[in-house]
Amino acid sequence: VHHHLEESIRPYIDLIDTLRSVGIQKDLALPTIVVIGDQSSGKSSVLEALSGIALPRGSGIVTRCPLELRLRNVTGGVSWKAVLKRPRLSYEEKMIEFGDPSLVEKHVEEAQNELAGKGVKICDDLITLEVRSADVCDLTLIDLPGIARVPVQGQPQDIGNQIQRLIMKFIEKPETINMVVVPCNTDIATTEALKMAQEVDPEGVRTLAILTKPDLIDRGTEKNILAVVQNKVIPLRKGYVMVKCRGQQQIDEKVSLVEATQIERDFFQNHDFFRPLLDENKATIKCLAIKLTQDLVSHIKKSLPKLDEQIKKQLWDVRNELKKCEAGPPQDLKGAKQFLIKILIRFNDKIKSLSLGEMIIKEN
Ligand code: GDP
Ligand code: NA
Ligand code: MG
Repeated sequence: VHHHLEESIRPYIDLIDTLRSVGIQKDLALPTIVVIGDQSSGKSSVLEALSGIALPRGSGIVTRCPLELRLRNVTGGVSWKAVLKRPRLSYEEKMIEFGDPSLVEKHVEEAQNELAGKGVKICDDLITLEVRSADVCDLTLIDLPGIARVPVQGQPQDIGNQIQRLIMKFIEKPETINMVVVPCNTDIATTEALKMAQEVDPEGVRTLAILTKPDLIDRGTEKNILAVVQNKVIPLRKGYVMVKCRGQQQIDEKVSLVEATQIERDFFQNHDFFRPLLDENKATIKCLAIKLTQDLVSHIKKSLPKLDEQIKKQLWDVRNELKKCEAGPPQDLKGAKQFLIKILIRFNDKIKSLSLGEMIIKEN
């Protein structure tokens, strides 16, 4: 998806990115887009198509840790660069940098194995993948493990609850935009993920539904699905977008993401029932990307006053600390020197702890 954004959008995204990079997300909740849905509903496929980054996906439980995908559109210089950050490790081991997009799957899988163990268990620890490229949209997205009800061999009995708790932790934050992924070939009205989203967002101001796998639809149900997408069945304030991603066979045949975009367009253009969705801006990944970016920006705009409040509170706390130094340096040169050195050391320690992402300000 090659998609340049209006200049007016970038500063907000950059602001959030800058706040994140100094570790402020520990103190301030920042807006993000989260995908939720049943296992194998197509969450990772949607994120992959949106981002142009090949993620681990397939049948069964593939996404086992939350993955934060930070996409930053950069022009000139680096063509493609990624940094993967894994929690729980020492500072040196924490980051892996690489420049080959085809290595994403391998690195994410390795990080998952490290955190959740090999196999089918899940884990709450967040893996972060930051990608800088000229070919991505400015979006921050979180991929989550899918909802599963029956544990498979090797999973704890309460896996269903574990996953629901993990999902809740992300979607209940008022600062998230929740993207509910539902395959066209299932009963949309009984979708657990949609119920969860409606529970945390009864007004539907931050819930968007994505209908996947339109190519696998049961013959004869097209009209019903069309009515759903057109918001006539289960009305959602932000509505629905239908997308067609790569199926397993296309992945095995190495159909590229760029080719998949063209195939998606052809699919809708040639579809007897779904063709009108193109003109209504309710179909294709590209349309979803534009919608999401606009949503994110308006969301950030709305959150800014709240961020402002929280920052003011932090400022107040810091000012209180500063008061302790208010007496100023002693009059004699030696005393003044020692006073300054003491302050510089404290300042330096704080900068260090900030850059390590540790916001804990130790008491004296
Ligand atoms: P997740 O578990 O929700 O992350 O789902 P995945 O993204 O891993 O997808 C599960 C399977 O569905 C994969 O084999 C995908 O290739 C396939 N899939 C996803 N979207 C589509 C689609 O639009 N059409 C078809 N035919 N298959 C899809
Ligand atoms: Na899957
Ligand atoms: Mg997945």
